[in-house]
Amino acid sequence: MPHTHKIAIIAGDGIGKEVIPAGLAAIEKAARGSRVSLELTHLPWGCDYYIRHGKMMDEDGFERLAAFDAIYLGAIGSPTVPDHIAVWDLLLPLRQRFQQYVNLRPMRLLPGLVSPLANRGPADIDMICVRENSEGEYAGLGGRVHVGTPYEVAEQTGLFTRKGIERIVRYGFEIAVKRPRRLLASATKSNALRHAMVLWDEVAEIVRTDYPSVEYRKYHVDAIAARMVTHPASLDVIVASNLFGDILTDIGSAISGSLGIAPGANINPERDFPSMFEPIHGSAPDIAGRGVANPIGAVWAGAMMLDHLGHRDVHDRILGAVERVVASGKNRTPDLGGTATTKELSDAICTEI
Ligand code: NAI
Ligand code: MG
Repeated sequence: MPHTHKIAIIAGDGIGKEVIPAGLAAIEKAARGSRVSLELTHLPWGCDYYIRHGKMMDEDGFERLAAFDAIYLGAIGSPTVPDHIAVWDLLLPLRQRFQQYVNLRPMRLLPGLVSPLANRGPADIDMICVRENSEGEYAGLGGRVHVGTPYEVAEQTGLFTRKGIERIVRYGFEIAVKRPRRLLASATKSNALRHAMVLWDEVAEIVRTDYPSVEYRKYHVDAIAARMVTHPASLDVIVASNLFGDILTDIGSAISGSLGIAPGANINPERDFPSMFEPIHGSAPDIAGRGVANPIGAVWAGAMMLDHLGHRDVHDRILGAVERVVASGKNRTPDLGGTATTKELSDAICTEI
């Protein structure tokens, strides 16, 4: 019996439109001959849509998306649309509305790639960040008053709930307990953020008692940022708030060779709503339209989507192909020091699949 999955595709803007076709090509190739069948629906939403229609997505967008099994997203953002509109009229509401409270971001130096960290190899850089994705510093609370006057005030409030912390920390432990090293690092800042991060630490202390086999440590977020550079091998799973995880995963992708490689999954663990899979990079206006974006982050995110849908074998087939192509040293895009186009790297991955 084939498993049919309904996938909504939002390629979005800039290089999103270039890397999503590469991801789809890999997914479709890997699914061929398996029991997976995909029903793809392309949705033209994003900044280009905003410029033409005055809105990032259709009014019934959330209702329509709710009917899919997963969402596959490229990138949202354009120099012609203010970023807070792009982010707040599509991306963050999606993550919040669909209770995608886990943002899962693997950070691995693939064999064959060179880290900007001297003398570090694949054994040194193999981490995964479990980032809180629905509240915290990106909850959207606050406001501005006396706008445009010398008395102008902006207030941005972080929102941390016991339930929100509990579920993300628990998810972190669940990931850690299944990994060989069983280390969980919690990114805190309870010395300075004396309300929210103290609650964060307290809740983590309670949850850890359910996972005696996991070695739990808390670090202040600035210290963990430095540790990722100086002692990356000491880190395995990192659980972090929305803002902290956002920043730490950019470091993680940078030390893994390129921002273009890193994937991200926005997961609703209860499966009440579709989860969303995307490369962590943005629309990269500086290189958009030239066909040279690295598609690996998108391909890897597509593999994570198949894994989430119950097809670990298809995930492994795609990732294995990516690893072999990267290890071969051929077909590298400019961010990896080569001259290959998105299409050439994508074709090489598909051939390997
Ligand atoms: P960015 O990730 O788009 O680009 C940062 C740098 O990395 C650029 O130099 C870019 O050329 C390079 N880069 C990124 N992805 C690459 C790839 N696949 N291959 C090769 N090089 C790659 O971040 P930036 O410049 O801060 O943001 C650009 C736009 O994207 C903004 O509008 C921003 O709001 C949006 N954005 C959207 C995200 C999303 O949709 N999830 C995430 C991050 C940014
Ligand atoms: Mg980010």
